[in-house]
Amino acid sequence: MKRTDRSALSDSMSLSRRRLLQGLSAAAFVSVATPNSLASRSNRLPSSNPFAPADKSKSFPDKFLWGCATAGHQVEGNNIASDLWALEHIPHGMFREPSGDACDHYHLYGQDIAMLADLGFNTYRFSIEWSRIEPEENQFSNAELNHYRRVLAACHEHHLTTLVTYSHFSMPLWCARKGAWSNPAAPDLFARYCERATKHLGDLIDFASTFNEPDIPQLLNWITFAPSQGPSMTEMFQQALTGARAALNSPEFASFFLGDGKKIRDGLLAAHAKGKVAMKSARPSMPVGFNLAMSDDQPAPTDSHVAEKRADIYGPWLEAAKTCDYLGVQTYSRAIVGKKDLPPPQGAELTQMGYEFYPECVEGVVRYAAQEAGVPIYVTENGVATDDDTRRIEYYRRALTSLKRAIDDGVDVRGYVSWSLLDNWEWMFGYAPQFGIVAVDRATQKRTIKPSGAYLGNIARRNSL
Ligand code: BGC
Repeated sequence: MKRTDRSALSDSMSLSRRRLLQGLSAAAFVSVATPNSLASRSNRLPSSNPFAPADKSKSFPDKFLWGCATAGHQVEGNNIASDLWALEHIPHGMFREPSGDACDHYHLYGQDIAMLADLGFNTYRFSIEWSRIEPEENQFSNAELNHYRRVLAACHEHHLTTLVTYSHFSMPLWCARKGAWSNPAAPDLFARYCERATKHLGDLIDFASTFNEPDIPQLLNWITFAPSQGPSMTEMFQQALTGARAALNSPEFASFFLGDGKKIRDGLLAAHAKGKVAMKSARPSMPVGFNLAMSDDQPAPTDSHVAEKRADIYGPWLEAAKTCDYLGVQTYSRAIVGKKDLPPPQGAELTQMGYEFYPECVEGVVRYAAQEAGVPIYVTENGVATDDDTRRIEYYRRALTSLKRAIDDGVDVRGYVSWSLLDNWEWMFGYAPQFGIVAVDRATQKRTIKPSGAYLGNIARRNSL
């Protein structure tokens, strides 16, 4: 990231707020088995792909999924019944700016999906918003479910395999007011939503995921700052939670990010288990998994606690993945792990998020995840925040070269989904970071394909580097 970008971001944030954001974004470093029943739908390229290269050594496996991802709250716009919308509008909140219209993907999904397919991809990963589908407790909206049926139908018209996440950080405000994932009733509430959504949409979903990055609340505990830099992460989160409860006049309010990490983790694990049963009861053949945030954890030269970190953050989730049809992994950089994660090495190139530019994280992560989970792996998010698209191309080139090495060594990876299709609302950072292979003019909502979009789309079309 250029220095000017970094100072623009930092100018707009107070120190503790900035550190809160850094913690949250650092947590965001981080796929799944295709039952035979879906194999025929999972790759729409004909077996003799006319774009296939002559040089087989650069090819990816047959039926490899190539896609881009988005998440509802980050692109749809006006997701007004969600907990995050409420948090975006309280005074002195954690967000740089509210999500507003976002990329208006709620209305523009048709052109976005057509563009994705035209670029050469065969897969779209997106999330459905619980708060649209169940805006008040036990009041389900068939109109909103039908909206997502239209989105899914558009994907299938364009021969795209659909990866659908049921919960990507946000939840209905009514559920957050009851304590979110720390509420013992939350797993059953989530399971009811999962069953309802699957009954309505399941026949069009190729891969379902209960949760996006459910390990993040626990990952935050591994991020540390020098004591001289102010309050600890735990203190900052406590302050943010107290402020939100007061502002929303809601003493039990909590959310995915705000609350006790261990309690949230236990709630999410129970919700995943019940959600999966509910999904399977509605459509038994639908492959179900989840998407784990992982960094490529590398030991510091002394006093490294990598094994402890892995057991603490990924351990219970990798255990849960063993009973899933697949595991999605999402990664953005490496972490050098001492007692906690250490800052990037001196002089390292940093991205707009402050991460080390380290595309080879993909290789480390898929090797580790496949070995531990023993189920097929899909990379469901990987990419880089930068305003220099040549660096994005370089990132994808190196990431995919490293992924290919792992696949050539026999690691069972069946797809690669980039983050992200569009420049979008990057949570606490607002619209500043640019992860997209497509730029969005937020005044006109005009999309402009970046060179990296053409680059990645061509690899997808050829199924080869
Ligand atoms: C999340 C995305 C996010 C991306 C980039 C992942 O943690 O799933 O929602 O935008 O990282 O930070």
